[in-house]
This record gives sequence, C-alpha cells and structure tokens, in this order.
Amino acid sequence: MGIATEILADWDAALAALEWQLDCGADETLAEAPVDRYALAQADATRRAEAPERPAAPPPGAAAPSAAMPPSAAPPHEPPPGPDPVAEARAAAARAHTLEDLREAVHRFDLCELKKGARNTVFADGNPKARVLILGEGPGREEDLEGRPFVGRAGQLLDRMFAAIGLSRSAPDPERALYITNVVFWRPPGNRDPEPAEIAMMKPFIDRHIALVDPEVVVAMGNTPLFALTGQRGIMRARGIWRQTHGRPLLPMAHPAYLLRNPSAKRESWADLLALQAHLRAPK
Ligand code: URA
Repeated sequence: MGIATEILADWDAALAALEWQLDCGADETLAEAPVDRYALAQADATRRAEAPERPAAPPPGAAAPSAAMPPSAAPPHEPPPGPDPVAEARAAAARAHTLEDLREAVHRFDLCELKKGARNTVFADGNPKARVLILGEGPGREEDLEGRPFVGRAGQLLDRMFAAIGLSRSAPDPERALYITNVVFWRPPGNRDPEPAEIAMMKPFIDRHIALVDPEVVVAMGNTPLFALTGQRGIMRARGIWRQTHGRPLLPMAHPAYLLRNPSAKRESWADLLALQAHLRAPK
C-alpha cells in the first residue's frame, strides 16, 4: 500500500503522520505530492459529458472499422521462473552449522517480501543454552525498531509471566533461562498475521533453529507458531495440551497480546505455566 505524504509544516507532526502510515501498513511511496482522486474522477466525468458522440456500433456480423478494433490479444506472458524461496531457505538453513551461521543466513535471505518493509531482522533473544525455547509469531513495531523479539507490551507481559515460574531471557543459568524467537523474522505490514506462503518459507529456518538450540521444551506462543509446527490452528482449543515437535515436548499457549485484550484468559495461561514448571521439575 502506498500513501502520499502531505508536506506538513511541523516536523514532529510529519514524523507522527509517517509513523501512523507505517502502522497502517504503508510500505511504499507512490508520489511526492498527494493526488485528489475525487477531483480526478470529477474531471473525468466532465470530460466524458463534453466529448462528441462516438459513431454507432457496426451491425451484428459486420467487421468493425480497423481503428475501432481492439488491440490483438498479446500472447500470454509467462514470468521467467525465479528462485523457489522454500528450496532456497532449505538450502541456506542446511548450510548453517551454528546459531551464528543461521543468524547470518537469515540476514542474507532476500526472498521474503516482509524483509523489504522491515527496518530490522529480528532473529532471537535470550540464552541459547536454555531448556525452554519460546516461538512467537513475528515482530511488531517495537521489535522492528529494536531488532529484538518481544520487547513491546506483549513482550513485557511475557517476561512477567515466565518470571512467575522463575524463567528469564537474561538468566545465564540454563535451568532458569529462556530462548525466544519468532516464526517470521520481519514485521508483517500493519501487524497482519504472516501468510501461509511466508510461514512455509520460514519453516526450514525454524527447523534448523530448534535443532541448533536443542531445547528440552518448545512453547508455541499463539496461532502462527502452532500452525507452523503442527499445521493446525485453534490455539484456544490446543493450549495446555502437550504435543511433540522435532522429537521433544511442545506446549501451545495463548499469545500474551491475546491476554492483554482478554485478561480473563490469564487464568488458563497460569495453569499452562504451572504445567511447564512441573514438567521442568520432574525427574528426568
Ligand atoms: N509478538 C510476537 O509474537 N513476537 C514478537 O516478537 C512480538 C510480539
């Protein structure tokens, strides 16, 4: 989407207007000056009303004069086959033997359209030795600005939720640590959900990420990671029910952004956190 920016006298107001447009999903400048499309439509209607009448259409069966002939149909244009983003992602992920390799591979991956509209690649945060890996949906505005996952309001709630069971992204001790990443590494415009094709493109990176961090437990935070890991949606039905992913336990939970909008669902999330704590404390 593109919205032309009016030149505003006040610099702060101009910046606020630009940020508002980015929040709305505008990711392209179409023109230097605004276009009043209502005025254009009006001018077009006036021109038509004033134009001389066209000659009558030829009778059925008669050939139309050549000037009135539509341009001959162009042969269908096949776009040249481009790189297959899923195959490219798979190859790039397979070449990553360390987390640093993977971070580099993600930074270099240019086939996801989301990257073009993002300010930062948001790779991960926390302790790579953590027993628990949290997989979120994708960066929002704050995460895009800072280049770290879960730093906005939902992220602050996430930190408080896990602190309540003694886990933190800043803990050096793997027993108390979290590792946090997302299904997509770039902010979707207007914070929309990532599309299935974007998720499919990121899947090889998610698979490699989990293999390299090798956590004991994966937490799917919300619908998008649930879909990416299991092919199923419906987080509120799936939450709290242990499954398996990549040969280890997977716990689906409601996304903290959902909890901010629906505080009554926090009770169920608390039960899920306690189940996670019990799982981590159980003798191996
Ligand atoms: N929501 C997510 O799922 N991930 C983030 O990084 C931020 C908000």
